[in-house]
Amino acid sequence: MVEYDKKLVLSQAQINLKVKALARDISKAYSGKDLVLVGVLNGAFMFMADLVKELTIPVKVDFVRLASYGSGASSSGKISMTKDVEIDLKGREVLIIEDIADSGLTLDHLKKHLATFKPASIKVCALIDKKERRTIPTEIHFTGFEIDQGFLVGYGLDYNEEYRYLPNIYHLMKG
Ligand code: IMP
Ligand code: MG
Repeated sequence: MVEYDKKLVLSQAQINLKVKALARDISKAYSGKDLVLVGVLNGAFMFMADLVKELTIPVKVDFVRLASYGSGASSSGKISMTKDVEIDLKGREVLIIEDIADSGLTLDHLKKHLATFKPASIKVCALIDKKERRTIPTEIHFTGFEIDQGFLVGYGLDYNEEYRYLPNIYHLMKG
């Protein structure tokens, strides 16, 4: 494995504070509602786990597995789904939990797919909003951090499946 230099962008402490704030907003917005969180694997696994522990309302938890990147840092433009939701979403409030919104392709694709299950609503919570490369406008209702540029790793985010385990988020210096 090639070891790239990494520059710290968000510390574990900063992430924890943000996750708590997001959980407060989400708990308030969905109080008394039948909420299903749909996490996008693999990137959102850590964020999802931390977020649900901070919620003060009951929720159901499900996952989809989507990949838009073959094995590199730029989107292939093609999205493949290798795991679908398993909870019945009909009439329920759905909140997608995503690690990063980049081009917007993944979220656009997922929203359209989940809409076919006829939920009461579909909203999005993204830990990181990278607006720089947005090609498909897509609404994000709960945003953690806005980050302009760079390829990020850690806290679930990978580069070729490496770095997901790191507790902080780094900018990967690929030269
Ligand atoms: P989009 O379809 O271009 O919006 O890409 C979104 C997906 O690409 C996210 O779910 C991430 O998994 C991945 N992605 C986008 N930017 C980064 C990054 O900086 N680091 C790691 N993964 C990223
Ligand atoms: Mg992802």
